[in-house]
Amino acid sequence: MIKVKDKTFKVLIGSFEIEQRVKDIAAAINKEYENKNPLFLGVLNGAFLFLADLFKHITIPCEIGFIRVASYRGLQSDGNIKNIIGLAEDLAGRHIIVVEDIVDTGVTATYLFEEIEKQQPSSLRMATLLFKPAALKKPIHPDYVGFKIEPAFVIGYGLDYDGQGRNLNDIYVLNET
Ligand code: IMP
Repeated sequence: MIKVKDKTFKVLIGSFEIEQRVKDIAAAINKEYENKNPLFLGVLNGAFLFLADLFKHITIPCEIGFIRVASYRGLQSDGNIKNIIGLAEDLAGRHIIVVEDIVDTGVTATYLFEEIEKQQPSSLRMATLLFKPAALKKPIHPDYVGFKIEPAFVIGYGLDYDGQGRNLNDIYVLNET
């Protein structure tokens, strides 16, 4: 059990298990993307550790970049306006693998896919460390999933609670009791 700010968390997935899954995903990508020079696009901040570890096990020619989704309240009444920071203009004809820390409602992933598709990549897939299928509000299906989890709040291995906890080696879940 650990405490981060005002909340306590317990281990959900240990670092050894994470390492094994990351290696499995890398092996699948190495096989499926041989001779395709894939471009990995990591979504900051949460995906930085996952992508760093994944990338170390990629043995085929490949490239890496990082993007960030900025959300801000617009003047329209319909809520958040988003835009992508750091998206290169030359995605046309490329094989893109978007790398996320977690797919929760799927709103972020859906937005990213819509924007990236405008640039007409040859292929577009998503790798996510964590996936909460029960929380999904959009019809998306991540192609590479580390772990499917219950829709509870998690931290560690890149994921934060109010800015803290990203440096934890294991993944922890909020302790509700
Ligand atoms: P979505 O758009 O609802 O799929 O969520 C996207 C973002 O919300 C993720 O990239 C995370 O940054 C954040 N998020 C969702 N669930 C969690 C969680 O359990 N812990 C920490 N961050 C989360």
